[in-house]
Amino acid sequence: MSITKSVFGETADGRTVHLYTLTNANNMVAKITDFGGIVTHLLAPDKNGRFADVVLGFDSFEKYLEPHPYFGALIGRVCNRIAGSQFTLEGGSYKLAANDGKNHLHGGLMGFDKVLWDAAVFETSDRVSLRLSYLSKDGEEGYPGNLSVMVFYSLTDENELVIDYTASTDKPTPVNLTQHNYFNLKGEGSGDILDHVISIAANRYLISGEGLIPTGEIVKVENTPMDFTTPTAAGQRIHQVDGGYDHDFQVRGWSKRLFKLRPAAVVTEPVSGRVMEVLTTEPAIHLYTGNFLDGTITGKSGRPYEKQSGFCLETQHYPDSPNIPLFPSIILKPGQSYRHTTIHRFTVS
Ligand code: GLA
Repeated sequence: MSITKSVFGETADGRTVHLYTLTNANNMVAKITDFGGIVTHLLAPDKNGRFADVVLGFDSFEKYLEPHPYFGALIGRVCNRIAGSQFTLEGGSYKLAANDGKNHLHGGLMGFDKVLWDAAVFETSDRVSLRLSYLSKDGEEGYPGNLSVMVFYSLTDENELVIDYTASTDKPTPVNLTQHNYFNLKGEGSGDILDHVISIAANRYLISGEGLIPTGEIVKVENTPMDFTTPTAAGQRIHQVDGGYDHDFQVRGWSKRLFKLRPAAVVTEPVSGRVMEVLTTEPAIHLYTGNFLDGTITGKSGRPYEKQSGFCLETQHYPDSPNIPLFPSIILKPGQSYRHTTIHRFTVS
């Protein structure tokens, strides 16, 4: 088990960017940079013990400075979308960057995916951890309050990538953090993910309308192409879903009164036998099947990332919550602590 640090690059204003290599007792490897908290590599074994890198991304830091769809990044202050790039809070109205049509996406133009985090490393008996800290100043990207954020990435000897988020604020502010790995359990750059078999522990999902903004309706998955209550290949009904999957699913059994990890999804890749389980404390898990990938970006394998060549399972609160009172609140107030834990557990079948 080890964690090593190397220079990865330099930001535009001359600050050094580092890459941390976490290795567990089973030789599983996670490489994470303090720029955007991006997971650049994640090496997981297949049923024959052969390792492959199962996340999309790049080998060089410079490629992460070019436009890319949030490969492997920490996302915040508020992930997913905010309709009309605005919200009101305690009588004040807040205007955010409209970086997705007229809507705000993933924290805006300089979201948490594009900032340099302070890093520290830790090693305990069963895991190696990278602690990333960031102070999002009052007014940053249009959000109120000084938000102090801490994210622990841990690689455990159970082959789990554990992500623990905490945050506190000096003024009420919306907070909805997530992480944006694009997975391909066959190995990044090895084609589409339509044969991956997905189960999602959700009896309901959120209807989204124009611009992928939720309508506020939460409906049953039963008898719809959203029904992943039994293992189903991602491609089996994707042609019935306009544009592909890009939907929030309500994680079964969630309660705002109980901070508890719950099973949220299981994905199996039949050829390699790699299995990824996702457990989370969040009320929603967002399945995105990489619909906007179009082959214009070439990744680590040297092969272009074509449409649907990676999938995301972004654990989170519901999109546009500040504008939909019906949804569980994402407003963090002074004295409260934001907490969110998600585990990606890798096994083989
Ligand atoms: C999330 C959104 C998608 C897309 C990706 C980033 O998954 O739901 O619509 O914007 O982020 O490309």
